[in-house]
Amino acid sequence: MVTQICSMGIYGFTAFPVYVEADVSRALPSFEIVGLPDAAVRESRDRVRSAVKNCGLSFPTGKIIVNLAPANQKKEGSIYDLPIFIALLCASGQLKGEFRDTVFLGELSLSGDLRPIKGVLPMAIAAFEAGFQKMIIPKANAAEAAVVEGMKVYPIQDVKELLKFLHGEIKILPQTPEAPTLKSEQSLPDFADVRGQEQAKRALEIAAAGGHNILLIGPPGSGKSMLAKCLPSILPDLSFEEQIETTKLYSIAGELPEGSSLIQRRPFRSPHHTVSAAGLSGGGQIPHPGELSLAHNGVLFLDELPQFNHTAIEALRQPLEDGTVTISRVSGSIRYPCSVMLVAAMNPCPCGYYGHPTRECICTPQAVSRYLNRVSGPLLDRLDLHIEVPPVAYEALASKQKAEPSSAIKERVQEARKIQNQRFSGTNIRSNAKITPEFLQQACRLTPPAEMLLKKAFQKLGLSARAYNRVLKVSRTIADLDRQKDILPRHVAEAVQYRSLDRKYWNRQI
Ligand SMILES: Nc1ncnc2c1ncn2[C@@H]1O[C@H](COP(=O)(O)OP(=O)(O)OP(=O)(O)O)[C@@H](O)[C@H]1O
Ligand SMILES: [Mg+2]
Repeated sequence: MVTQICSMGIYGFTAFPVYVEADVSRALPSFEIVGLPDAAVRESRDRVRSAVKNCGLSFPTGKIIVNLAPANQKKEGSIYDLPIFIALLCASGQLKGEFRDTVFLGELSLSGDLRPIKGVLPMAIAAFEAGFQKMIIPKANAAEAAVVEGMKVYPIQDVKELLKFLHGEIKILPQTPEAPTLKSEQSLPDFADVRGQEQAKRALEIAAAGGHNILLIGPPGSGKSMLAKCLPSILPDLSFEEQIETTKLYSIAGELPEGSSLIQRRPFRSPHHTVSAAGLSGGGQIPHPGELSLAHNGVLFLDELPQFNHTAIEALRQPLEDGTVTISRVSGSIRYPCSVMLVAAMNPCPCGYYGHPTRECICTPQAVSRYLNRVSGPLLDRLDLHIEVPPVAYEALASKQKAEPSSAIKERVQEARKIQNQRFSGTNIRSNAKITPEFLQQACRLTPPAEMLLKKAFQKLGLSARAYNRVLKVSRTIADLDRQKDILPRHVAEAVQYRSLDRKYWNRQI
């Protein structure tokens, strides 16, 4: 007898239905799984065999063939344990019923417990789109799948419970979608604790408001890392659509905390500088989203930028521009989204004191230029705002007065994002930093004096086309924070000033 159970598969960022067919026939005992299974899928045989026996059921004798259709798509992971288990019980007549509208997913332990799996959210979304109405999945993944409105998600602890449920002996209620919990911002580092550094805070506010990339440069202990860590407290809230996108990536990478449903805060990823190119951009034998994609809709913070592996950093160039990273394999290419705000911090030289107002730098000019040149020109070009973080004065440090709290800054950022959302409604642009070339002139309207100023700056500073576009976008954000419809000269002047470190440290035209 041949039976068919529905399940799902995932390749890169896309999920698709998989049909698990089982046939038990009279012949010498054997158990084969066909349909391009990987090693983990093939190992299902042993887990399923043990789970069947340990539940007090009899493992079918004879020739068993399990086919995973479509047969031309690679199947990965341990998610097919449960559908294979159910298909075998149906094929051997130990379970009766119609499960056409139900998707089964889950890894089995030898004793029949259901273990959590990766990629449940994208599979639940694709299953709903394919017309399935019910999902039977491990309890630990239920909150994640229940995000999909209209899908009945049954959380299951172990197969004994599942069989009782399928036989109608017990009732299991579908998982109710988690109500959005109030996010406590208290645990985040706050700008109120950062003394002085007003200019750096202003630049970070602009960066957060428009989603611009930013570079912080300064001597040791001036608070660069501290400032960057405060950034999450002023980032605008995620829209539901963005929450789903980011959660999908976390789900695929298996980084979603157990039992959680959605990532509700913008991610802030801060990989150590020893990270490999594949770890940063994504890759590996079985392609996996990297830190860059895990920071999707949030911040990728590269502390001590010149210490990073050169190849790993250079590989970021194209994905930063496109907002997607493509990983090519013989079997096909995978694209993960990676629309991030890049924040980088660095010292200006190996000893850290080059350009310091009071301490002398002990590095040779060659050592300084070698150090600075580890950050390539094209990467520097992609950092819209360059800001110097000078040492903090004693008066500022010893002051009893608290600085402006993050909540007040966040309000202004949210306000500026609201203006941007209105401007970009109906397009897939989400912030000023992501304005496409065809939309640039229309979105960034300059008053005639502002245009004159930009023209002067362009000629005097020898701006490149990319730098021109980026200055224009930053001016747009500054104007939004200022609630001005058109860009005024003061907005252009501030935006241009954030590119002055190109010349001070790298001695290059922008
Ligand atoms: N502006 C500031 N206000 C209050 N505390 C500060 C400030 N700047 C630095 N500190 C204190 O100094 C510590 C070190 O700062 P931080 O690690 O941010 O320096 P850094 O600029 O990243 O240095 P490095 O270049 O060595 O990485 C912080 O943890 C904080 O306690
Ligand atoms: Mg630091």
